[in-house]
Amino acid sequence: MTVFTIFGSTGDLMYNKLLPALNNLQKNNHLPGDTKILCVGRRDWDTSDYLAAVDEAVDSSKISEIRTMLEYVKVSLDEASGYDALKGKIESNGENTEKIFYLALPPSLFPKVAGGLSQNGLIKKGENTARIVFEKPFGEDLESAHEINRTLWNYFEEDQIYRIDHYLGKEMIQNILTLRFANRIFESDWNKDSIEKVSIIVKEKHGIDNRGNYYDSIGALRDMVQSHLLQMLALTAMEAPRAFNAQSIRKEKVSLLKKLSLEKGDVFNAQYQGYKAEPKVRKDSRTETFVALKVFIDDSRWRDVPFYMMTGKKMNEKSSEIIIDFKENDVTKNLWPDQKLTHNQLVVKVAPDEGVSFRMNVKETGLSNKIIPSRMDYSHGKDAFGNVPEAYEKLLLEIVKKNALLFTRWDEIETTWRFIDQVTNRCMKAPYIYESEDDLIKTLQERSEYNDS
Ligand code: BG6
Repeated sequence: MTVFTIFGSTGDLMYNKLLPALNNLQKNNHLPGDTKILCVGRRDWDTSDYLAAVDEAVDSSKISEIRTMLEYVKVSLDEASGYDALKGKIESNGENTEKIFYLALPPSLFPKVAGGLSQNGLIKKGENTARIVFEKPFGEDLESAHEINRTLWNYFEEDQIYRIDHYLGKEMIQNILTLRFANRIFESDWNKDSIEKVSIIVKEKHGIDNRGNYYDSIGALRDMVQSHLLQMLALTAMEAPRAFNAQSIRKEKVSLLKKLSLEKGDVFNAQYQGYKAEPKVRKDSRTETFVALKVFIDDSRWRDVPFYMMTGKKMNEKSSEIIIDFKENDVTKNLWPDQKLTHNQLVVKVAPDEGVSFRMNVKETGLSNKIIPSRMDYSHGKDAFGNVPEAYEKLLLEIVKKNALLFTRWDEIETTWRFIDQVTNRCMKAPYIYESEDDLIKTLQERSEYNDS
């Protein structure tokens, strides 16, 4: 028997991501045969009230496979007896039940709920049938993350704790290490001698929607860079792990993240026009909805190669990509001194298309000797068999299988927050107000540190 207990089950994440992901897993027979899903909330509801709310929020086809597995449980976080009903429901399944507690809650509630679960005996330190999962963001800065983590370590062993960064569940993010280490052609040129620069760009078309409450105290740097973009950077730049397992991969990521450095002027923060009028946003807010950084990695593989990271809301399109620009080489320049050649470029396409493309030079067909750029494209959408699973499907399944590879270990979180705190304290200025992506790009290009990006 496996029981998922999900706190925050009346929130957007539950409706938009977790329920559809569990539904797909069930549809494809990936969930253990006797799985139950306990949906925890503070409202005085029963299961039929909950299902009515789900029906309002989610298209019925997205939960049809799991509808009968859902059960609503009220938990009052502030009362000593608040966990009794939950405890009764979980214990009624017998001793060997696999228990997965998922906290789709703001980080300020993590210690309280973790404490409640522990003090009520729902999850014991070191109990190998019980795991606890935390949604990002894990804290708001290094100090608060430390505080949360200290509390969690009182109650659980590190290997019971799963910290989510949903980008790690995306197909192409998982593919970065394969692309690098299963293809000799890339790995031997993956260094400062051959690579000019690396750009990690995550653009979103929409604004902050109804998330003013959360977003205004966080901003793009802490919402996106601390987690998703730094994970993308770590996987792109880390040394080869000794083995393809959680321990070796996380060790290399941490060691890479510790080597990041940036100059004070190499951060550009901006806010979209109209942001201050969004619901629950302060009228004098300086929160950034766009941020660009140029960072360096202080080691012999990468010295002097700029890594650009850029992310923002209200851009022209939704897209996430890692772009590796290779250097030109002297042989080519000498052989074709009169031709303007493009440099090789490898693009890892994370969203909306998933795949890899490589730009190279070829001779134009026909009688001339003109050299033109051409792209080799691999696209998951076209070339993969069946549907590409959603990030949360993969992550939930890995939790069931007790595989921690796609989750962030405490020292990764600690290292990234240390870096982000440095950026927040030293580099952020009054935000530039942008009207559009084009306006931003023009402004960035006028700044010397970004004009080659
Ligand atoms: C979340 C951020 O972690 O990632 C959101 O909190 C952001 O602000 C989202 O919109 C982007 O994820 P995806 O998968 O849509 O690129």
